[in-house]
Amino acid sequence: MCGIVGYIGNKDAKEILLHGLDTLEYRGYDSAGIYVMDDSQTGHLFKEKGRIAALRDKVDQSVAAFSGIGHTRWATHGAPSVDNAHPHQSNSGRFSIVHNGVIENFAEVRDAYLQDVELHSDTDTEIIVQLIAWFAESEELDTMDAFKKAIVALKGSYALALVDNENPDVIYAAKNKSPLLLGTGDGFNVICSDAMAMIRETNQFIELMDGEVATLSQEGIQIETLAGDIIDRAPYTAHLDANDLGKGTYPYYMAKEIDEQPAVMRKIIQNYQNEQGELEMDPEILESILASDRIYIVACGTSYNAGWVGKQLLEKTTNIPTEVHLSSEFGYNMPLLTEKPFFIFLSQSGETADSRQVLVQVNEMGYPSLTLTNVPGSTLSREAQFTLLLYAGPEIAVASTKAYTAQIAVMSILAELTAKAKGLPVEMDVAHELAIIASAIESVIDDKEIFEQLSLTHLSTSRNAFYIGRGIDYYLVMEASLKLKEVSYVQTEGFAAGELKHGTIALIEDNTPVISIITDKKTAGHTRGNAHEVISRGAHSMIISMDGLNQPEDAYVLPKVHELLTPLVSVIPTQLIAYYTSLHRGNDVDKPRNLAKSVTVE
Ligand code: F6R
Repeated sequence: MCGIVGYIGNKDAKEILLHGLDTLEYRGYDSAGIYVMDDSQTGHLFKEKGRIAALRDKVDQSVAAFSGIGHTRWATHGAPSVDNAHPHQSNSGRFSIVHNGVIENFAEVRDAYLQDVELHSDTDTEIIVQLIAWFAESEELDTMDAFKKAIVALKGSYALALVDNENPDVIYAAKNKSPLLLGTGDGFNVICSDAMAMIRETNQFIELMDGEVATLSQEGIQIETLAGDIIDRAPYTAHLDANDLGKGTYPYYMAKEIDEQPAVMRKIIQNYQNEQGELEMDPEILESILASDRIYIVACGTSYNAGWVGKQLLEKTTNIPTEVHLSSEFGYNMPLLTEKPFFIFLSQSGETADSRQVLVQVNEMGYPSLTLTNVPGSTLSREAQFTLLLYAGPEIAVASTKAYTAQIAVMSILAELTAKAKGLPVEMDVAHELAIIASAIESVIDDKEIFEQLSLTHLSTSRNAFYIGRGIDYYLVMEASLKLKEVSYVQTEGFAAGELKHGTIALIEDNTPVISIITDKKTAGHTRGNAHEVISRGAHSMIISMDGLNQPEDAYVLPKVHELLTPLVSVIPTQLIAYYTSLHRGNDVDKPRNLAKSVTVE
């Protein structure tokens, strides 16, 4: 996790770095810092615990700086504090560094080289900068050689930006596993963890690859391998709109992103339709799936929950057996694979380290893979054989909402096209169904006050809560409970409704909130029965049910949509409930405690 930025050029570096860090705050927000070089080539370090806004207050605006590096942190080694905030410096103050990633062998490196060096933080990052200084000073290496020698000694993940006071016209950068982009412009160059952070400055970016180092000056960028071979790589254009990054009139990104979902559904239909209005995608993806005997969906968190809906869609539509796995388990405890597996990686960010370590293994084994991601050019997209984009637009709130529905929508298109390619009869016209769903989502969002009221009466003071459902609704309640717990901190569990009576019902007390999701006519009666069981034990019950299912009078009724796609609509009340509960509990809705948007550590 963590976000890093760098700038060298002809404008006010402080403001560019602070704005870049504001944009990267989704990657971590427990402390932040910048190191800038003024025009008399004196360095200035500013660090603060907490958000970028706190750092901004601390920065001396009178410093005229034209280059510098910055960092926003999600603590891995060492508690959130000013001492542990980046940039870290060598003891002489000559070198300053920012780091995204985790150095696995930092203790070994410390013991091998730095026993006599006084350390000032609990971080793995300080080891890197002290090691560079140690090589530069004890072995009299020039900065680039010292930097490379330090990198060779490190094991783990890193994106690094380094400033040397003795070479103030250059910023050094390197990466392994963690993402890092170099942006180019007229009279300036930049470094960033993702393109959004610098899109106000440039839309021309060059990817730095693992095992490469770069130097940036005002005039240009030079990339080389550790062996010193020069790399010539052309920039690509990042198609991002700086206006997408604002909250507009919304108080929180989460509210905006929930509201954007009808538009996202329509954008997905458009992007996957050809000029004749037929759904279409790279035929090689479909051929590769058809050549396989089993699909393995691998993902984390909300993407994992979307994966379960994807399994249902793929199995029911294509008859191809499909398994869903947590990346963080799969990589270390791989199940027996079939002879011809096909892997689907679901990742909003495309940067999740747990998923990437599985993809690395899948590539080593030579199996075909497809990444569904919201971020073109992300690591999982680059490293998988195929990519399908989600077209959801930037998702800034830490809690994922529109990426979940976009993942399901794109998987529904994938399922339909695979079934057609297989010659199976397809009874669902996905483009038509998704258009109906866009309107259905709109009508649920129009009822948002109902869910705000429900949050106030059922959840704003509650210690715990339960979501229950069966079949596809069980998959949905897994996501509903994750959303509620992560933004409101109400301990929430999502249960298969039939399982309650096998143990969990013991937790039901007077006024325990239990929300039942009922969209499937086969199981509607049973789940309603389970709701009655908890009501009899004092629970505060709410039923969210699809139209036409003989629901009780006080149930909230969802517009009817295709039975395989109900989570696209039934998730909306649960997102709104999570949002309003968090809001009324006074939490920072977009940046819940302890979390980060892009989880780039395993
Ligand atoms: C929850 C949430 C996380 C992510 C998970 C995977 O709201 O956002 O659970 O879904 O960290 O992230 P991606 O999809 O970027 O791989």
